[in-house]
Amino acid sequence: MSLLQFERVSYQYDSEDYNIIDELSFSVKPGAFHAIIGVSKRKKSTIFRLINGLLTPKVGEIQVGGRTIAGQKNYCGYMPQKDMLFPWRTVGENLALPLEIKGGFSKAERREMVRSALADVGLFGCEEKRPEELSGGMRQRAAFARTMLTGSELLLLDEPFSALDFLTRISMQEWLLMQHQKHKKTILFITHDVEEAIFLSDSVLAVTSTPSRTLSEIKVPAEHPRTRECLTRPEMVMLREKLIDMLRKQVMS
Ligand SMILES: Nc1ncnc2c1ncn2[C@@H]1O[C@H](COP(=O)(O)OP(=O)(O)OP(=O)(O)O)[C@@H](O)[C@H]1O
Ligand SMILES: [Mg+2]
Repeated sequence: MSLLQFERVSYQYDSEDYNIIDELSFSVKPGAFHAIIGVSKRKKSTIFRLINGLLTPKVGEIQVGGRTIAGQKNYCGYMPQKDMLFPWRTVGENLALPLEIKGGFSKAERREMVRSALADVGLFGCEEKRPEELSGGMRQRAAFARTMLTGSELLLLDEPFSALDFLTRISMQEWLLMQHQKHKKTILFITHDVEEAIFLSDSVLAVTSTPSRTLSEIKVPAEHPRTRECLTRPEMVMLREKLIDMLRKQVMS
């Protein structure tokens, strides 16, 4: 069974006179890790906002776990393109936010869950710091920990590592793969970096030119657990070049 299902979903922004998404259908299996690639302005973030209920389809239906999401908002672990940590809250208070929204936890329980989530991402002891005191990589980890604390089975990560320097970025990628092995969540990960897409994902979903009724799925020929060494294999090099070529043609189209 699918965890997520788009059934002929169309969406139009009020300021536009056409459907930016037109009868789009695709499905995602539980526990899958998909990278989503596509050139700029090809509605990747719009798809995430639809999944998380921040936008409502004009027609069609989005189902999660076999049930329509109609009317539900912010039920996914959603990490938007910017890390969105609130500067006036400490790191610990930022992480406690999804628990406060969900309700049902005492202050002591929230503190314990936040501490454990921070330890999980290598930020033990940072709860009293302000976001501005953290490095870029640490902020990304804190934002990811907050995303995990939503408790959602479905994580939507919109270019989470795009602002990081190369070395921090590759260590975050390795770290994310470990998190996926450990927590077995379903992850959709938008990226412009083709190498990042194939290193992380089971298969790449390409958002191609409009109008398109589905996402093209391209399987990644590498097993888990992975190390960066797999990127040098001929089949991975070929896939990387094929995807770059596909994106280039789209930029020109
Ligand atoms: N609130 C909005 N109102 C009107 N148009 C919008 C709105 N948000 C996005 N768009 C338009 O929808 C299109 C797709 O935007 P979206 O942010 O989904 O693209 P994207 O694939 O995530 O791009 P990028 O890779 O640059 O992040 C763009 O042309 C954008 O200008
Ligand atoms: Mg985007």
